[in-house]
Amino acid sequence: MHNSKPKIGNCFYRHATIEDLPDIMLINDQFEHRWAIEKFKEVFENKIPIILGYNEDDVLIGYLVYFLVLDEGRIINVAVDKFFQNQSYGKRLIHRSLEEMYESDIHYALLDVKTDNLSAIHLYTKMGFQILCRRDGYYTGEIEGDSYYMQLRL
Ligand SMILES: CC(C)(COP(=O)(O)OP(=O)(O)OC[C@H]1O[C@@H](n2cnc3c(N)ncnc32)[C@H](O)[C@@H]1OP(=O)(O)O)[C@@H](O)C(=O)NCCC(=O)NCCS
Repeated sequence: MHNSKPKIGNCFYRHATIEDLPDIMLINDQFEHRWAIEKFKEVFENKIPIILGYNEDDVLIGYLVYFLVLDEGRIINVAVDKFFQNQSYGKRLIHRSLEEMYESDIHYALLDVKTDNLSAIHLYTKMGFQILCRRDGYYTGEIEGDSYYMQLRL
């Protein structure tokens, strides 16, 4: 457990390997809307990139999963450890993914976000994402609900 709030500092990135899965799950499991471990395993099997963000103390603060299809980059999961939230790490992880997409000649970044996930919607809107449409019943299973389908032109 962390004892005190760290100051805002640098963030360092690398792509995850399957060995990082236990650390990823420690963050994933903090949230109601979380992925099953099998889903992460599928991501690794399909060589879909997971960006890990570390702080200056080499502590994993969050991760982001995205994949590329034609000229689109789809962000399918992003999470920041609750202890490190509201310190702009989420923004920086997304920014990093957009840089990687841009370097791969991607023209659009896309994502779905649950319509009641106000912190994430705020973050994406601040970064320039725009709502394309609402997708009714997008989320099914344990957590149900609608999504906003959002896009950013790179
Ligand atoms: C969404 C999430 C990744 C944001 O990470 P974060 O590191 O806390 O966000 P940041 O500190 O980078 O915030 C970026 C901006 O969003 C705004 N923001 C963050 N939380 C907010 C909230 N609850 N209400 C309003 N604005 C908020 C901040 O003001 C900040 O803007 P600023 O830098 O201009 O002040 C984080 O809340 C999270 O892990 N949530 C659980 C998982 C999840 O819902 N993921 C999204 C799935 S689509």
